[in-house]
Amino acid sequence: MIEYLSRKVLHQLPAESAHDLSIKILSSPLSCLVNKKIHDNPVKLFGVKFPNPVGLAAGFDKNADAVTGLCKLGFGFIEVGTVTPKSQTGNPKPRLFRLPDNQAIINRMGFNNKGVDYLVEKLSNFKANIPIGINIGKNKITTNEKAVEDYLNCFNKVHHLADYVTINISSPNTVDLRQLQQQDSLIKLLNELKNTQLKKAKYTPIVVKIAPDQDENATRTIAQTIKKSQIDGIICTNTTIDKNNLKKENHQNETGGLSGKPLLSRSNKIISIVRNEVGKDFPIIGVGGILTEDDAMSKISAGANLVQIYTGLIYQGQSLIERINTKLESHMKNKIT
Ligand SMILES: Cc1cc2nc3c(=O)[nH]c(=O)nc-3n(C[C@H](O)[C@H](O)[C@H](O)COP(=O)(O)O)c2cc1C
Repeated sequence: MIEYLSRKVLHQLPAESAHDLSIKILSSPLSCLVNKKIHDNPVKLFGVKFPNPVGLAAGFDKNADAVTGLCKLGFGFIEVGTVTPKSQTGNPKPRLFRLPDNQAIINRMGFNNKGVDYLVEKLSNFKANIPIGINIGKNKITTNEKAVEDYLNCFNKVHHLADYVTINISSPNTVDLRQLQQQDSLIKLLNELKNTQLKKAKYTPIVVKIAPDQDENATRTIAQTIKKSQIDGIICTNTTIDKNNLKKENHQNETGGLSGKPLLSRSNKIISIVRNEVGKDFPIIGVGGILTEDDAMSKISAGANLVQIYTGLIYQGQSLIERINTKLESHMKNKIT
């Protein structure tokens, strides 16, 4: 009931103000009031033990400001970032829009974040009870030719604090970022990251987050390249730039990435293509359009090992985490018996 009411209040505010307020509450002493049980349905992936397979997707807590509160919501893991080497303000506001009739969000935030050093300081003083992924990107002013330096810079600074590091080359809101998914650029980027990863005393798994908008052949090539580069996993997917097929409502034509319900089948298709290409044992994290426990189940059926949510949390609240966990657990039990 309290959860329902607070969601009602938050949805009266402009979308970004509601988000900022949520981060403030989750990073304040008020977060002590929440302490959900962490559902016990363990999954081991790329050497990391996840207490359950339901995670928070990147972009909600870009600066790791609210990790204390977020780790108490029942998630099996959370992913912070995207963080870039230098702080940057992102695109002009307004840049975040709710599309309630579509159970969707359009955002063109543009990697607004306080910079990697700030995030490192936040996480250095934090003892997490669940795995933490750190999602890294490049600054807007960094050209694609120099992008490798930004990713290496961030990786070097965060690797020891992360249970895994996500390479974000799929946000539609940084001009030409998605071109880094093209084979030559991708091979170069991933080789450099792999070499750096292998030189560290502690092995930190690296996963690559991909877009949902390239065609099947391009998706296969990306998946092959990631696997051949001995990267540890793939996250499918980021937001889509395709706004066709939306129900008519305010903001449906805003520029930016679309998340939520309309993304579900597109992102599931990408998971299936990738699973087909990389074989049954390669780690895949599925994200995009989970608004119900059945949506989460559809991602597991498409080939995901873990799932993440963002827009579903905005429309359904934190109870969605437990509902998904219950569903996935009963599915896994049925598979065993
Ligand atoms: C407001 C907003 C900001 C986001 N920022 C990031 C980001 O910084 N890095 C990233 O990899 N994904 C980001 N995403 C994408 C989400 O992590 C996720 O891939 C996408 O929203 C699809 O999942 P969903 O339908 O459950 O929201 C963002 C999404 C939203 C709605």
